[in-house]
Amino acid sequence: MRQKLNNKTKRKITFPRVYNIDRREQEAVAKVLATGPLSGFVGDASPDFLGGPVVKKFEKAFAQKCKVKHAVSYNSATTALHGAIVALGIGPGDEVIVPPYTMSASATAVLMNGAVPIFADIEADTFCLDPKAVAQKITKRTKAILMVNLFGQTGDMGGILALARSRKLAVIEDNAQSPLATWRGRYTGTVGDIGVFSFNVHKTMQAGEGGVLVTNNARYALRAQLCRNHGESVIGDLPHYTAGRLFGTNYRMTEVTAAIALVQLGKIDFLNKKRVALADRLTRKLSNISGLTVPHIPKENTHVYYSYVLKVDEKKLGMSRAAFVTALQVRGFPVGAGYVKPLYLLPLFQKRQAFNKTHFPFDYQGMTQDYRKGICPVTERMHYAELIGTDVCQYPYTNAHIDAFVDAVHEVLHASKKTT
Ligand SMILES: Cc1ncc(COP(=O)(O)O)c(C=O)c1O
Repeated sequence: MRQKLNNKTKRKITFPRVYNIDRREQEAVAKVLATGPLSGFVGDASPDFLGGPVVKKFEKAFAQKCKVKHAVSYNSATTALHGAIVALGIGPGDEVIVPPYTMSASATAVLMNGAVPIFADIEADTFCLDPKAVAQKITKRTKAILMVNLFGQTGDMGGILALARSRKLAVIEDNAQSPLATWRGRYTGTVGDIGVFSFNVHKTMQAGEGGVLVTNNARYALRAQLCRNHGESVIGDLPHYTAGRLFGTNYRMTEVTAAIALVQLGKIDFLNKKRVALADRLTRKLSNISGLTVPHIPKENTHVYYSYVLKVDEKKLGMSRAAFVTALQVRGFPVGAGYVKPLYLLPLFQKRQAFNKTHFPFDYQGMTQDYRKGICPVTERMHYAELIGTDVCQYPYTNAHIDAFVDAVHEVLHASKKTT
């Protein structure tokens, strides 16, 4: 959707959808189309089991860029998350602790392998899992903590890692929204046991669809490769195979997607840098407005602003969040109240029905879960009362887009004061 802005200054600013695709991606795709194959994957125990030449080149480049030993491409971050659960051997009877404030795939990937997501609350400043809340949800069934690095940065990763270590749990990072953000100088997504990235059409680095799983653990990488490409059909042919039982599916990346992703990988630093510059400008200009809280970035982090998120104090702002957001939307700005409904409130979890009318895996071996409204009060407060997200900080938008947004914020607040 193209949004047109005509504010009082008569500046015409539009917010076209962001693709950042140019001649370089076109040429890379044309080369694949001219030479083939469109997919190099074969389902037998040969080198082609691991995909075509461009897929392999992309994986090598991604691993090098992120400074990680193994990168396993997937056709989405959703399927890569499933691959992570399979790689870790998590299944029926197991629990994985996830935040409720994330895209639904962070939780459904757990269900996909017959395990159950248990929701723990988030921090009110980074919007990522709160280690104190996680600690309260650990049971003898817990196998992993799935840390979602939300909106472009991670949260208290130190606390999550310490907890995981002390309770012998794996850490999966859903890093779909935070490519090349850092924590203590390391790339997020590479800090836990396994991390996943997304290249869908909304992401900073995009290839239409696509994802990648990264890990420094050779066994997890092998299991992820087997999960991606019908592993059951080759395991019997692999000499000295010791990576455990599993069956796979088709989560393979095409050569065309890999060609686009490879070019985009070369752009990600530039695209992030541009987003950060726009976000820093916005933060400078909004930080003195009473009632708005600009993003909090812990000292250990860098933020790559998948989304720019503010918090609202309605009393101090002098107007409701809903009225504030609507007034900005009417003026043509890409802004919204809240993010996604806390996941435990979705019918899937309220009714505990994932597989037709059964209650598997929720009732497996007498398992029970608390998915009642109120279990994650910080998440609910953020979603229903405080949080505002905007996409104005994306390249190729410019300083003029940021300034127009700030002008509109002042205009809306001024108009509201006049009427009260
Ligand atoms: C946090 C998070 N996890 C997972 C996904 C799923 O990514 P994909 O669309 O590549 O499957 C997304 C995509 O929106 C996401 O934002």
